[in-house]
Amino acid sequence: MAMPKQKFTLRFITFLLVNLWCKQMVIMAMEIIPIGVVLDLNSTVGEIAESCISMAVSDFYAVNDDFKTRLALFTRDSSSDVVAATSSVLDLMKNEQVHAIIGPLTSSQAKFVIELGGKAEVPIVSFSATSPTLSATRSKYFVRTAQDDSSQVKAIASIVQAYGWREIVPIYEDTEYGNGLVPFLLEAFQEIDTRVPYGSRIPLFFNDTQIMRELDKLKVMQKSIFLVHMTAFLGSRLFLLAKDAGMMSEGYAWIVTDGLSAILDRVGYEIMDSMQGVLGVKPHIPASKKLESFKSRWRKNFTTSKPQIKINELNLFGLWAYDTVWAIAVAVEKAGIVHSGYVKPNTSESTVDIAGLGKSEMGPRLLRSILSTRF
Ligand SMILES: *[C@@H]1O[C@H](CO)[C@@H](O)[C@H](O)[C@H]1NC(C)=O
Ligand SMILES: *[C@@H]1O[C@H](CO)[C@@H](O)[C@H](O)[C@H]1NC(C)=O
Repeated sequence: MAMPKQKFTLRFITFLLVNLWCKQMVIMAMEIIPIGVVLDLNSTVGEIAESCISMAVSDFYAVNDDFKTRLALFTRDSSSDVVAATSSVLDLMKNEQVHAIIGPLTSSQAKFVIELGGKAEVPIVSFSATSPTLSATRSKYFVRTAQDDSSQVKAIASIVQAYGWREIVPIYEDTEYGNGLVPFLLEAFQEIDTRVPYGSRIPLFFNDTQIMRELDKLKVMQKSIFLVHMTAFLGSRLFLLAKDAGMMSEGYAWIVTDGLSAILDRVGYEIMDSMQGVLGVKPHIPASKKLESFKSRWRKNFTTSKPQIKINELNLFGLWAYDTVWAIAVAVEKAGIVHSGYVKPNTSESTVDIAGLGKSEMGPRLLRSILSTRF
């Protein structure tokens, strides 16, 4: 009676061993490619992006489990700080020898980070740094997986033209993001003969009193048509104050770029209420079954512990972040990237500065592969 049972156990163990051995083989044959992720995890855009990025990795390898490469993500929280973002990137390059960086979030951060990418020949792939001035810096290793802001200019000009507005005042944040669009706006308005008599540039650190003073100035100048180009941090306060100043009433017109319109549906009731009647442009995402199913999966997946983040809807940046991971995963496999370090210069060892960083051995190959990836 005992015999067959023993046999069964033996067979079972053999099966287990073979199974384990096979799994091990697969793991050993796989090339792990470290990729850095630099985000402001204290922001709505950053939190959504982080969740989309991790879903992208598991979705991608669920479909492509025969791939020989696997992305391993190393995430750093840069907050909204330019210096923090730059040092996160340095840390990722130096200590994790990452082959590419996803991020950073803002255009101001990207301006510095892409310099590092160029030096170390590590592709910096940003899905959210949208300032059109960034591409003009011609850093070869900067790859943008978002539409740059100048793509909105034609739509904005069309709205202005359709309403027959002869004059408009841009109100924009004094950052790389805010300032970068202004030359494109000026050119577009000039083409439709709409005057821009004044531009109101608002630094991020302005308090409510200072913003109010700027709005009062516009009132005194009897300006009534405004184009607002800023992110939610400043924009949400601006509209509450404009309402207090009586500038959200009849006789005034407001247009917002997608920095604000993309998050309009989730800024909270009070701010939303202050923005009644504001026109916004934002990129159109064609509806599809795939998108709907991803959205509902994302909603089930997403959790946040931060009270300041009020989200119930996926945004465009989340989708771009998701696609960015897919693009890099495809590019890494296609180019046959193997994990390798940075080639160090012959000079001094143990330097913490940028000169001692070296260059990513696979950098040029990976960059070419990313740039030729279409899907
Ligand atoms: C995160 O955001 C909240 C609310 O906007 C702010 O009070 C806090 O200081 C931020 N924390 C960091 C580390 O930036
Ligand atoms: C806002 O900033 C100005 C200039 O720095 C300062 O004089 C004023 O007291 C500040 N107001 C508030 C409410 O903090």
